[in-house]
Amino acid sequence: MKPAIIAISGTPGTGKTEVAKILAKRLDANLITVPLLLRKKQLGYGYDKKRRTKVIDEKDLEKAVKKNISGDKINIVESHLAHLIKSGSVFVLRANPDALEKRLKKRGWPAAKIRENIEAEMLDGTTIEALQKNENVYEIDTSSAGAEKTAGVILKILNNHYGKKYRAGKISWTEKYGKILTRNLSRRNRLAKPKR
Ligand SMILES: Nc1ncnc2c1ncn2[C@@H]1O[C@H](COP(=O)(O)OP(=O)(O)O)[C@@H](O)[C@H]1O
Ligand SMILES: [Mg+2]
Repeated sequence: MKPAIIAISGTPGTGKTEVAKILAKRLDANLITVPLLLRKKQLGYGYDKKRRTKVIDEKDLEKAVKKNISGDKINIVESHLAHLIKSGSVFVLRANPDALEKRLKKRGWPAAKIRENIEAEMLDGTTIEALQKNENVYEIDTSSAGAEKTAGVILKILNNHYGKKYRAGKISWTEKYGKILTRNLSRRNRLAKPKR
């Protein structure tokens, strides 16, 4: 039998780390995270100075994850790239721009980095990529629910309850928050215009 793999993905600040920890406890699962792989020196990374962020290669991550897969436990892979790994189910955690901004500000991230992540969240990138790689993709809005509740929803979906309700493709922030996107894009275009 193939080892069971559950992927928890989403834009930074959507609650992956917290939810994955709760889930791992409840399921007595083997939790595989990027910090763990870095600690074990099974994963290397580059550094993007401008973005002040580690850059991880998708294929390297897959290799490192494979080394840590347990055959007799459920495996939970938690990363903003976890959706790219072949899994039994992928849970993409989502958060609306207001919630995300609050959470990322708390981390003390620079405004440009926060904006970049809000834009990525609004473009549904994780969900789209997840659907290209995996069949069972679910999305959960964490904007106003706590981590415990989100973990509870995931457990129910895994037990074949309300699968349809959370199937990927139903969450979109563009209708309510679309203005943010156009404002940011036009600001960037202005900045990018060559000087005469
Ligand atoms: N429903 C929720 N699920 C998970 N985290 C949440 C939720 N609501 C609020 N949070 C908060 O969001 C913040 C970011 O969570 P974290 O797990 O670090 O995100 P990530 O790992 O995706 O970057 C934490 O302060 C967490 O407590
Ligand atoms: Mg995290």
